[in-house]
This record gives sequence, structure tokens and C-alpha cells, in this order.
Amino acid sequence: MVKPHLITTHRIDAAATPPARSFTIDNTLKLDAAAELDALERGLLAPAASIPPKFFYDALGSTLYNAIVQTQEYYPTRTEAAIFEAYRAEIAAHIGTGKQFIDLGSGDSVKAEKWFASLKPSRYVAVDISETAAREALERLSSHADAPALAGLITDFSRVLDVKAVMNDSPTMFFYPGSSIGNFLPDEALWFLKQIRAHCTTAGSGLLIGVDAKKDRARLDAAYDDALGVTAAFNLNTLRNVNTLLGTDFDVRDWQHRGFYNETMGRIEMHLEARRDLIVRVRGTVRSFAQGERIHTENSYKYAPEQFAALLVEAGFAAPRSWQDPRGDFSVFYADAQVA
Ligand code: AVI
Repeated sequence: MVKPHLITTHRIDAAATPPARSFTIDNTLKLDAAAELDALERGLLAPAASIPPKFFYDALGSTLYNAIVQTQEYYPTRTEAAIFEAYRAEIAAHIGTGKQFIDLGSGDSVKAEKWFASLKPSRYVAVDISETAAREALERLSSHADAPALAGLITDFSRVLDVKAVMNDSPTMFFYPGSSIGNFLPDEALWFLKQIRAHCTTAGSGLLIGVDAKKDRARLDAAYDDALGVTAAFNLNTLRNVNTLLGTDFDVRDWQHRGFYNETMGRIEMHLEARRDLIVRVRGTVRSFAQGERIHTENSYKYAPEQFAALLVEAGFAAPRSWQDPRGDFSVFYADAQVA
């Protein structure tokens, strides 16, 4: 016999389960795979060899990145989260409610979702290069009773930011957390910010962004060369990814990770350094590397708060306001687009 209280419980659950919200995902990713691989080949054959950081993020690289953010030494992710927690109500009051929320590099959308209760967005647009990640995140959000209207856009915005197709003309808040702005060269960062500003066509629009600050060299060096070797594995894994994509024959054991702060440039640099004289076959060409020669894989620029505020103003934003952790390790900015 079925116990009555079980039937009751079941009925309550069924009534409480909201119908999943529907959403559409636009895909404007016109990845010209052949051109990407040609550029990768040119980078490897150049006198100062390089591999763009986007090649970190195959499935294993993404898993390793998720491990990096848990290392003791890598402070940016947890510091930004602490600033968001400490100042969420104040930041939300400053921004105002009811805007459309455009999440650049949305991933699993977990960071964005934490803002829904305070910012009450009219709609949420997940923008990511990975359709799988965006779809899974939107599916998860769609089952929440209080979720805003949802949409997705699959695009590589590191090339050009074109989100017009998924925007309406209501006030918009762009969200770009995680200090990924630091992975652009400064003039590229300015260009990227200008593109965001150009999309802010309605009064009340603006940008909420996380930025890593300059700090003492020892802490920066450790954050990008952790004791467990997680960042080293993340960097070295790029060679395996390149072998898969380009058919090169890198032997990961011939290379070592270098991650350090270049104070003159105000940036972390990551490189892969040859442990011995060696050759690598890059398509039809044999590329020789001398012992100690490096392949440049990433820059991560660090900005003093006033330096980044000036960059926002140069990009056309006004009155940037910022929030920091007590140590001043990381800054969160909200900059109004001041649309007339
Ligand atoms: C994604 N980005 C913000 C990271 C950073 O800190 O520049 C990438 C990273 N590279 C090594 N560790 C983390």
C-alpha cells in the first residue's frame, strides 16, 4: 500500500516544478578552421615562436584551468568572488535593476546567476565560444522558476564583438568578470572596451568588469607557477593540443613551463622552454629549437586601479566606480556608458 504522505509529497513536488523556459541560441561562430591553423603554423615558425592562449582550452586544458583556480597561489578567482559577495548589494544598488544582462564568456553561468536576485535582469544572454557550455548552462537556468528570459550567442568575441543580433534596445549591463581583459594586449583591451561601449546605445547601460591589480613579484610569480605544477601542466598541455590539431610532434617531456612577472611590461608572461636542442616537424617544415629557446603562450596584464579607470574613460565610459578587497589585490569596476 502506498503511504498517504508519500503521495502528498509527490503532488507538492510536481506542482512546484515550473515549466522550463524556452530559449534560442544564435551561432555566429564562423571559425575559419583552416585560417586558424595557418596562423598557428606561422606562429610556431616565426623567429620568436608563439602559440595563442586560446589553444590552452581543449577538454583537458579546461579541466586544468578549473584546477588552477583552486590552487592556493592563484588568488584572482577567489578574490573577485569575495568582492562580489562583500559588495553585491552595494554594487547592485549602484547599477540598478531590470537591465538586460549580457555575459561575455559565460561558461557555466554560475557567476552571473549569483547576480539575478539583486539585479533582477529583464533578460540574460550567455555569450560563449563553446555551444556545449552555453547550452548546458541555459538548460540549467531554464528550470529555475525565477529565471529571467534567456538567450545564447556562440561567437569568438576575441576577434570582434558582435552581439547586436541578441540585444534589444533596453538598458544593458555587460558582464566581463575573471580578469580576462588582462589577456589582451593593452591596445587590444582598449579596442575591446570601445566595442562594448559602442553596443551601449541606451541610457542606463554600462559594464561590470573584474581586473587583476599589480602587486609584489613573489605573489604574482607563485600564482602563475604554483607548487603543485598545475599551471605547468596547463601550459604544457597546449603542445599536446597543437599536436592533435596541426599534426606536430612535440614531446611534452622536452619542454618546461616558465611563468613569471615582467615588471617593465606590467604583465605575467607564460612560455614553454626547450630543455635541450631539438627539432619539431611543423607540417612540411622542420623547426629547430635551441636549448633554452621559448615559445610565448600567454600574457596576463595587471592594472593599477587608476590605470584601468583611465582606460575605461578612454574607451568612452564615464565615472567608473570600483570596489577592491582589503589587500587591493583585485578590482571590480562598474562604468556607465553615459548615453545621452
Ligand atoms: C583566463 N585568465 C584570466 C587567466 C589569467 O590569470 O590570465 C589565465 C591563466 N593562465 C594561467 N593561469 C591562469
